[in-house]
Parts: sequence; structure tokens; C-alpha cells
Amino acid sequence: MSELIRLEDLVKIYNTGSLRVLGLNKINLSINKGEFVSIMGHSGSGKSTLMNILGCLDTPTLGRYYLDGTDVAGMSPDELSRIRNKKIGFVFQSFNLISRMTILKNVEVPLTYARVRPSERRRRALELLELVGLSSRIDHQPNELSGGQRQRVAIARALANDPPLILADEPTGNLDSQTSIEIMELFARLHQNGATVVVVTHEENIAAYTDRIITFNDGRLISDRINIAPTALSDTAGALGGRMS
Ligand SMILES: Nc1ncnc2c1ncn2[C@@H]1O[C@H](COP(=O)(O)OP(=O)(O)O)[C@@H](O)[C@H]1O
Ligand SMILES: [Mg+2]
Repeated sequence: MSELIRLEDLVKIYNTGSLRVLGLNKINLSINKGEFVSIMGHSGSGKSTLMNILGCLDTPTLGRYYLDGTDVAGMSPDELSRIRNKKIGFVFQSFNLISRMTILKNVEVPLTYARVRPSERRRRALELLELVGLSSRIDHQPNELSGGQRQRVAIARALANDPPLILADEPTGNLDSQTSIEIMELFARLHQNGATVVVVTHEENIAAYTDRIITFNDGRLISDRINIAPTALSDTAGALGGRMS
């Protein structure tokens, strides 16, 4: 198994006025390609801080972050945004779709940044919306869809440039429990097809889908365990991700 993420003595300190907050306290962590990992912990334990650094949206104060073999800890914002577009698909709790755009155009956004030509962009976005079961809604705007459907659009967008790493920070935080299960089953399908997926949650039944559960408390990594019996996928989940090749 080859390593996709390696953190060495990673520290994040937030300076707000005279106050210094230790967001992450000497984190050492390695995640291999193809793993399906959940990050748990109470509110304020450092989960989002970790995800923002893993996703190259923020940089550590101290320590090293190797992403796919490259040390990204000291990179400039420009370099980070290039890495982000190529290597990372991010899914947020609040979906973060562009409201006045069709969902097809939303999924095309990262492809535009990657300078993919229009016909190819459209072909790829259609394929991804089919993968997440939304082919019949391509001309809808986000506000015409349910929360679960919006999150599936966000997942399709995250997959657009076929990034090696999918990060999701509380992707089911705004969804009811049945819809949350559907979203986790979609991530599980992506994982079955070879994707590396890291999901933040504070719900046990969501983390139960993943193969490895890492827990944070007060900015420290306090537990890292294998989930020997991940939740099995339901038969209906096959319709969502089964066509991904
Ligand atoms: N931008 C910021 N500025 C100052 N402090 C922050 C900032 N973001 C997070 N923190 C602090 O860092 C700690 C970890 O926060 P966070 O990573 O958001 O936790 P979680 O996602 O687990 O709820 C908390 O004490 C929080 O208040
Ligand atoms: Mg958070």
C-alpha cells in the first residue's frame, strides 16, 4: 500500500488578537491510498482544522505535511491552490454549491479551473451526475433539490478532476438520518472503486461505514483504530455508484 498522506509533528496555532489557540497539537498520522477513514471528536477538538490543512485550504504552523510524496507545508497560496485543484475533492456540510447555476454547471466548475475544453467538461459532468443518480436533474438549480440531492451534486463536483483524495467535513451534518445513510453508502461505493476518502463525523453510525476510525480531543489524536466490521451496503446503494468504472 502506498502512502497518500503523512503528517509529522503537525501543529496549528491560531492567533486571534492576544489569544493563542492550539488547534492541533503534534499530530503524527499516515493514510494510505485507498483507505476509507473517519475522523471523530467533540466540537472544538480540531477536526476541521485538520481537514482544512489536509485539503490545502490552510497551512500548519509547525511540522510537515507530505501529500502524495510532496511536502506541501511551506507552499505559497498559489502553489496550494494548484495542488488543491489537482489532488483534492472537498465536500462541505453546507454543500457550498453556486446557487444561480444549474447543477451541471456546478459540476463543471473544477473542470473549468483545470482548463478542460467545454465539450469534454460537459461529457465528464454528465457522467458524474449519472454516477450520483441525478441525470434527470441536470438543468435544475441547487435550490430546487433536496439536501441529500445537493450533497450528491457536491460529491460529483468533488470527483470532477478525479482527485486522489476525497475529504468531507461533516457531509451529513445537515441531513436527516436516512439521507445521511445514502450519502455514506455513496462514499463507501467510491471507496470500493478505489478512492481514498476521509470523512469527519460525530455520529457513531456514520463512522461505522469506514474501515478506520481516528478520534481527536483538544487538538490531540487520542485514538486510531481499525473497524473490523464496517456497516454493509444495502442492495439499493448499487444503483448509485455501481456504474463507476
Ligand atoms: N479561524 C480560527 N481562528 C481562531 N481559532 C480557531 C479558528 N478555527 C478554529 N479555531 C479553534 O481551534 C479549535 C479547533 O477547532 P475546529 O478545528 O473547528 O474543531 P472541530 O471541527 O473539531 O469542531 C477550537 O478551539 C476553535 O475555537
Ligand atoms: Mg468542524
